[in-house]
Amino acid sequence: MAAHCVHGNLDAVTWAPDTWRRRVALQQPEYPDTAVLACVLKELRELPPLVTSWEVLQLKQLLAEAAQGKRFVLQGGDCAERFQYCTPNRITNTLKVLLQMSLVLVVGAQRPVIRIGRFAGQYAKPRSADMEKRGDLELPSYRGDNVNLPEFTIAARTPDPQLLLRGHERAAITLNFIRALVKGGFADLHHPEYFDLDWVEDSPLADDYHRMVETIGEALRFMENVLGVRAGDTDRIDFFTAHEALHLPYEEAQTRRVPRQPGWFNLAAHFPWAGLRTNDPAGAHIEYLRGIENPIGLKVGGKCAPEQIRRWLELLDPKRSPGRLTLIHRFGAKRIADELPPLVETVRAEGGAVLWICDPMHGNTQITAAGVKTRHFSDIYAEVEQAFDIHAAMGQKLGGVHIELTGENVTECVGGAGGLSEEDLARAYESEVDPRLNYEQALELAFLIARKMKAG
Ligand code: PEP
Ligand code: CO
Repeated sequence: MAAHCVHGNLDAVTWAPDTWRRRVALQQPEYPDTAVLACVLKELRELPPLVTSWEVLQLKQLLAEAAQGKRFVLQGGDCAERFQYCTPNRITNTLKVLLQMSLVLVVGAQRPVIRIGRFAGQYAKPRSADMEKRGDLELPSYRGDNVNLPEFTIAARTPDPQLLLRGHERAAITLNFIRALVKGGFADLHHPEYFDLDWVEDSPLADDYHRMVETIGEALRFMENVLGVRAGDTDRIDFFTAHEALHLPYEEAQTRRVPRQPGWFNLAAHFPWAGLRTNDPAGAHIEYLRGIENPIGLKVGGKCAPEQIRRWLELLDPKRSPGRLTLIHRFGAKRIADELPPLVETVRAEGGAVLWICDPMHGNTQITAAGVKTRHFSDIYAEVEQAFDIHAAMGQKLGGVHIELTGENVTECVGGAGGLSEEDLARAYESEVDPRLNYEQALELAFLIARKMKAG
């Protein structure tokens, strides 16, 4: 089905939704029965999309403005979204924390914030090993609910293509509820009285934080009383969706043409991204992403050779259009000072017009003495803080942050004003993959970032 492509990002290069199949595709599950997979993919291709091309293009425009320093991006959500998270409480709590963080960030950034959830489809995960061994038993690793289940049994760990359909349905149900909330009474969560701020008293910055929340309250009251506009009363969608475009057969099945728009769109999410493990310019994931019209994210970390950076730009954003490509850097607090500046320099030398987002989570993962995966709040903030300073010193702006968080009261990351310690981790650790900030830690991080942006 390869066809000559005329879309905005490609000239005279043959691309089609399935040309990734000619490349090495890392991190793909091995299905025992590919005929069943083929049936599932056929069914997926025929289902309605989750998002629309005009929403995708609207986000691209907003991200272009963010790349020009006029907006700030908050991207956040679970590392691995679970099907069982598709409940009214969970979804409301995720929206609540993202909305509240974004309001705090508006105060700091003094510019509008674009909210992008790692939700409604963040169901496929890359893993460091294909197999997991416990005792004498070796089974395929858990790769996200779209692929298999975390329980350590043969039945649970065998990749099941039907899960892709379940995932598509869960994503649709999640997104349906998000859209309804955003359109309806959810706006109340803007109000300061809905912030759960008990933990603030444990912070030396409590007064600053209270003042920021007061500012939000005043702005809302002004809008509502003086301008007669009810906060959140808007027909525009206010939350965009994102997931790692990892499972390529699934992403291919969601790649569509639409009437009166050139090119192909991934209509499973507004903002798909390539993870660090699958960002090889010669690999299948970059081949897939280069041909779609969506704004795309690329995780970058470690030392990147200038040649690799050049190829990413050539493949993913040959026209250097602001909004098209976002580099989500994730070096770790100890390495960002050495590794970000040369990356920025090369991108600039190549005329890149990218948006820069800092993911302060994935370079800061540690294993405790008890063998638990965690992250220290102080490392997370230290990386973001340096990111702001490095971009500023290089004469540009950090355009956003990418955070793994949940609206629930989990104990997965240590530190923060609440003082979670390694001993607390066992109490409410539920992530099957990476540790997330809980509600309080996420809000605290937003306060610190806002404070940093205000200070300039
Ligand atoms: C993730 O975002 O959950 C992830 C796996 O990140 P990275 O690709 O940056 O390691
Ligand atoms: Co993660």
